[in-house]
Amino acid sequence: MNLPHWYEDQHTLHVGTMNPRAYYLPDDKSNNASVESLSGNDWRFAYYPRVCLVPEEFSEENFEGSDYADIPVPSCMQMLGYDLQQYTNFRYPIPVDPPFVPDINPCGAYLKEFTLSKEDCLGRTFLYFEGVDSCFFLWINGEQVGYSQVSHSPSEFEITNFVHEGSNRMAVLVLKWCDGTYLEDQDKFRFSGIFRDVLLIKRPKGFLFDYSVTTPVDMAAGTAEICVTPTVIEGNPILFARLFLADGTFVEEGRLGKEGEGYCFHISEPHLWNAEDPYLYTVEIVADEGAEVIKQKVGVRRVDIENGVFKINGSPVTFRGVNRHDSHPEKGATVTKEDALLDLTLMKKHNINAIRTSHYPNAPWFVEMCSELGFYMISEADLETHGIGDFRVPGVDDNIGYLSQNPDWLDSYLDRQERNVLRDRNQAAPVMWSLGNESGYGPNLEEGGRLCHRLDPTRPVHYEGACRDTAGYHNDTSMLDVESRMYASPEWCREYCEDRRFHKPLVLCEYSHCMGNGPGDVEDYWKEVLKYPNFAGGFLWEWCDHACIAGEKDGKPVYHYGGDAGEEPNDGNFCMDGLVYPDRRPHTGLREIAACYRPLRASLSEGDEVILHNIMDFTDAGNVIQVEWKLSDSDVTISSGTLDIPSIPPHAEVRVQVPGLADAKGDNHYLTLTYTTKEESALVPAGHCVGVDQLPLGEETGCVLSQEAGAVELEETAVGFTVRAADVEICFDRAFGGPVSVTKAGKDFFRAPLQYTVWRAPTDNDRNIRADWEDAGYNRTMVKSRAFDAEMLSDGRVKIHSEADLTADYRMPLVHIKADWTVDCTGSLTVELEAHKTDIFPEFPRFGIVLTLPETLCDCDYTGYGPDESYIDKRHASVFGRYTSTVEAMHEDYIFPQENGSHWGCRQVVLSGNDNRLEVVGGERFSMNVSPYTAEALTEADHNYELVRSGSTVLHLDLTMSGVGSNSCGPELAPEYRATDDPKGSFQFRFL
Ligand code: GAL
Ligand code: MG
Repeated sequence: MNLPHWYEDQHTLHVGTMNPRAYYLPDDKSNNASVESLSGNDWRFAYYPRVCLVPEEFSEENFEGSDYADIPVPSCMQMLGYDLQQYTNFRYPIPVDPPFVPDINPCGAYLKEFTLSKEDCLGRTFLYFEGVDSCFFLWINGEQVGYSQVSHSPSEFEITNFVHEGSNRMAVLVLKWCDGTYLEDQDKFRFSGIFRDVLLIKRPKGFLFDYSVTTPVDMAAGTAEICVTPTVIEGNPILFARLFLADGTFVEEGRLGKEGEGYCFHISEPHLWNAEDPYLYTVEIVADEGAEVIKQKVGVRRVDIENGVFKINGSPVTFRGVNRHDSHPEKGATVTKEDALLDLTLMKKHNINAIRTSHYPNAPWFVEMCSELGFYMISEADLETHGIGDFRVPGVDDNIGYLSQNPDWLDSYLDRQERNVLRDRNQAAPVMWSLGNESGYGPNLEEGGRLCHRLDPTRPVHYEGACRDTAGYHNDTSMLDVESRMYASPEWCREYCEDRRFHKPLVLCEYSHCMGNGPGDVEDYWKEVLKYPNFAGGFLWEWCDHACIAGEKDGKPVYHYGGDAGEEPNDGNFCMDGLVYPDRRPHTGLREIAACYRPLRASLSEGDEVILHNIMDFTDAGNVIQVEWKLSDSDVTISSGTLDIPSIPPHAEVRVQVPGLADAKGDNHYLTLTYTTKEESALVPAGHCVGVDQLPLGEETGCVLSQEAGAVELEETAVGFTVRAADVEICFDRAFGGPVSVTKAGKDFFRAPLQYTVWRAPTDNDRNIRADWEDAGYNRTMVKSRAFDAEMLSDGRVKIHSEADLTADYRMPLVHIKADWTVDCTGSLTVELEAHKTDIFPEFPRFGIVLTLPETLCDCDYTGYGPDESYIDKRHASVFGRYTSTVEAMHEDYIFPQENGSHWGCRQVVLSGNDNRLEVVGGERFSMNVSPYTAEALTEADHNYELVRSGSTVLHLDLTMSGVGSNSCGPELAPEYRATDDPKGSFQFRFL
């Protein structure tokens, strides 16, 4: 097919389209929708590998398309089996030659019939495409209507002069790449097609095409206005605006004038909108006595930045935010309202109050949902040129601003800003416009920022990429209202907030990269956010794991990530960095962040008092949260009850009494406060747990180890010693530095020798230190014995003293270990263990021992931090207590296998099954994990469905275990969370 090369011309962006406007769905006078969704399964489709292979007749009215397939629309063609699924982060999937794209440019040809009645044809008809990736040509009944691009912003065409009564044929040709591709280099699967809804809109001859709604609030006077201003009117309709309360009560009617002449409703006691109380008025705009009615929901609220503090309705707010992509494991970038509602429900339940629409506008109805359900949004324009930095201009190193600084691309940049702002500016939820992501900086973005302010003077403008100058260009950031950073460390944030030279609020548009097992540093950021009024919070990266479903294996979904389709370039599993799995099962990380975003926080005070601090910005915690308290001695409850909490205004603290608190103070004693919702709200039921504070009332210690005096039998063997007591026999082997077998009444407890280990299957967050670990040899250690002797103690017990080094090929010894193993007359085994890392080697992943036990020991009872996996830095969602689970259930099945399921701060673990029982207690607190998989198997597999079970129960007892952090993209693991170099501790084992 011969097409004009508009798709390689950054000056021809839209042909035959309407100007961008606010999103709304008009009704007709009898309340019938004037909008028909053309979404459905009755589209016909063919895929062509290049434009020239599309038959010329495709656009013709009577083109048969007999070999076309029936497909659903909206959809992504790569999820329907066409083309190739491709995940690339910032490397462009095409040669960088802007505005040109490869001649072999895959395309999707869509055919669809729709019907119009005689009455429909008396008015005017429009087609509204909510999103098409990357560009498309449109024909109606054989005639070319136009062309459009900007994948994540709508395109609207008037088709009145192309349609007739009865059946009409629409033909749409979607191209995979266009000049816009250079501006859509977001880190995601690169899908194409009509991926959002298509609407047929029937309107009268005269109507209101676009309007603005602003809501000035006079905080001092306690009054507000809702001002409705027509900005584009078609024909000569008579326009009225009517105001209703949320419950439908009619308030007032006002006449709207010409373009620019609006009407303001004065509200003396406004019910203001915020994310905690998303109250919406309704304004009905009626054209020609009901020929058409537009119902616009309006949240009355103002956004200000005052003295570096981000405020809504005069109150400082913090963004407990998350970045969200459109993503679905079966549908790719196509998401339904049900899918979105599931995301929003999970977010609300986990205390998230803000969303950055990374890195493009979401579907227009998504914004309405956020206004209605209460989320602040950073609404981002469809703009990222990340990979352009790899398109080297000789002599210029950092070239990411190449397009942002190129005047030839100004139109394209401004088009994207305008489409973003005009579509959503009448909505309550967006509280900032974002110019885009990772596009460097330059005049095109500066102009874009100014344009946003002109189109909408009521909201601040955000953009992160201006934080450094590139290619010798000196950035003008005067039109940016917040200081935005991604992945800055908590220390950096503290320094910024304390530096009086800086006047803009700090917002982390991305932080705590949530890839795999993590994040471990959210609480450290929140300590700073809560300290500094000019720290407005942040947006976690990111909401969901992106992966494409590709069948099932052994009852598990098979998910494909980057590279699994054989595509190049690809960025592997970097797309799986979310808080929920692709099917929206929460990661443990989601509960961790919910804990850090909890609405109440407690700290100990004097005597029986605790201080409760309300983190919410608008809500009195006393009205909405119920607090249960419990005092416990280790895992045993001493007393419990419900706290009678008074009013706690937003941001305020109160002191409350917990009966018996002062007397309960002591080692291993805890006060646990559980916060639940008093009443049901839109997405959250009553009684839902919104957070827990567990306050240790003394030291957290291990257990007292005790051994019984009495005769124990010792025998020297070729490899070491055999010790017998009661019906237990333990063989020690010098070459392993400890016990290699334990039998009780003839039954084996060990399926392999006990081993010292420093290795853990690298987490995604270990990806940067992994090479150092492997280089040191931590993944392939063996024991070299330095000393090994036995001693009969005077009370009858036997002690084996062992000194050994852990060594690895081509390296000097890594760790020196001293272990004293004692067996008492009951057959219980105690080890006192200490290790010293050789200085030059990197920090340990862990240090501990690993037992390979019979698979039949499959039930686990432990006393420690649970029930989720917990690490020194990722444990805010966990409480200390006693938990019962199974080895199977304690494995957290990350799609990309890695270290998982550890429990920090344990005192005791009991494994049982098949009449056997192993009890372990620690003289100090320890980390423990138990799994059907070995660390080696978890290291080797690239997908969860490839994991090979060990056939044993693998028990790790660690004296030290590295935290998880968020270094997959975030800062290095903080020193206090690294494994210690000289771990020391003791364990006692009972074989029963
Ligand atoms: C950021 C980027 C995101 C994502 C993330 C890594 O730099 O803005 O889009 O790529 O890193 O997962
Ligand atoms: Mg990027």
